[in-house]
Amino acid sequence: MSEKEKEKTTISVIKADIGSIAGHHKVHPDTMAAAAKILAEAKRKGLIIDFYVTHVGDDLELIMTHRKGVDSPEIHELAWEAFKKAAEVARELGLYAAGQDLLAEAFSGNVRGLGPGVAEMEIVERPSEPIVIFMADKTEPGAFNLPLFRIFADPFNTAGLVIDPRLHDGFKFEIYDVYEGRYVVLNAPEEMYDILALIGTQGRYIIRRVYRKSDNEIAAVVSVERLNLIAGRYVGKDDPVAIVRAQSGFPAIGEILEPFAFPHLVAGWMRGSHFGPLMPVGLRDAKCTRFDGPPRIVALGFQVSKGRLIGPVDLFDDPAFDETRRLAQQVADYIRRHGPFMPHRLGPEEMEYTTLPQVLEKLQNRFVKEERRYKVHVKKPSSHSE
Ligand code: F6R
Ligand code: MG
Ligand code: MG
Repeated sequence: MSEKEKEKTTISVIKADIGSIAGHHKVHPDTMAAAAKILAEAKRKGLIIDFYVTHVGDDLELIMTHRKGVDSPEIHELAWEAFKKAAEVARELGLYAAGQDLLAEAFSGNVRGLGPGVAEMEIVERPSEPIVIFMADKTEPGAFNLPLFRIFADPFNTAGLVIDPRLHDGFKFEIYDVYEGRYVVLNAPEEMYDILALIGTQGRYIIRRVYRKSDNEIAAVVSVERLNLIAGRYVGKDDPVAIVRAQSGFPAIGEILEPFAFPHLVAGWMRGSHFGPLMPVGLRDAKCTRFDGPPRIVALGFQVSKGRLIGPVDLFDDPAFDETRRLAQQVADYIRRHGPFMPHRLGPEEMEYTTLPQVLEKLQNRFVKEERRYKVHVKKPSSHSE
């Protein structure tokens, strides 16, 4: 392989909600155009190789390829500039929640922690490099826990884990604890039950990266930024993105899409405070309506070739997912009937980062303390800061 061919390509997917039309509904085309103009200029100058600008619901999505590696200050600054320009247009048009996710005034070397969500991977391109980019609206990064587990660890989902020798050794999961800022790497299939013990708590333990065990090749990466934890208050949900490599030693495209045929319940939806089914849709249906939802996910397939993005194909824009969408509607009907009751509404731990505490605060002085003739033992949930 020549030096040129060994050159690494970085795929960066960076997203932010910088304002939308008719509430938190849909990105305006003029804001996408403003962002695309900035990226086109960067491509002309050679900073990035290629880019694709799109949106899912109220989230503006920048997909970029370059040679600068992950966490590159130049690339992050470029994304920040694109969002700033798009937010300016949003303000000028009077769009709703203009600039919402841009939590800082000025850029400071990395967009992580400033509001946008980031998923990046650096790879040596295979002779043919198919990838899937997932982008979701009205949910959180932990929404990817279940599907990623199924793609990379469940033989009932991914036939290749059983019958393809290149997948047979299994995968490693890097699981990030968003409360504590620490991570653990666990192996599948050996430590499958430990993995599940963590990632079932999808609001806290999030699959951040997946590696192929046999050679440590990166297989998947997820944006794990949780806006509310960063801002300490409710600023919308952390609508996540993910990049997954496919085929020839990684799961096939069909194995990567398969878990989404089950519209599993995810946290988000109305006011970021409700569980609802994750509905896979094509780009034209990537907009939230009913009860500001239900949460949606888009999958775009690309070939990455010498850094160029060839595509996309809109993978969920397919009747093969019609029944999933129908089931998602039925689940939405069912769970909506719980109104403000759990388990439709999120549990108290998650509600800490919404506007509910303000309501409870108001009632503080109305509570009357009573003497009890017996002792009770109330166990607090496992502390965030043990
Ligand atoms: C959820 C979301 C929306 C809003 C809701 C209220 O992520 O963005 O469901 O929370 O529309 O929005 P505000 O408070 O802006 O009126
Ligand atoms: Mg939003
Ligand atoms: Mg959104």
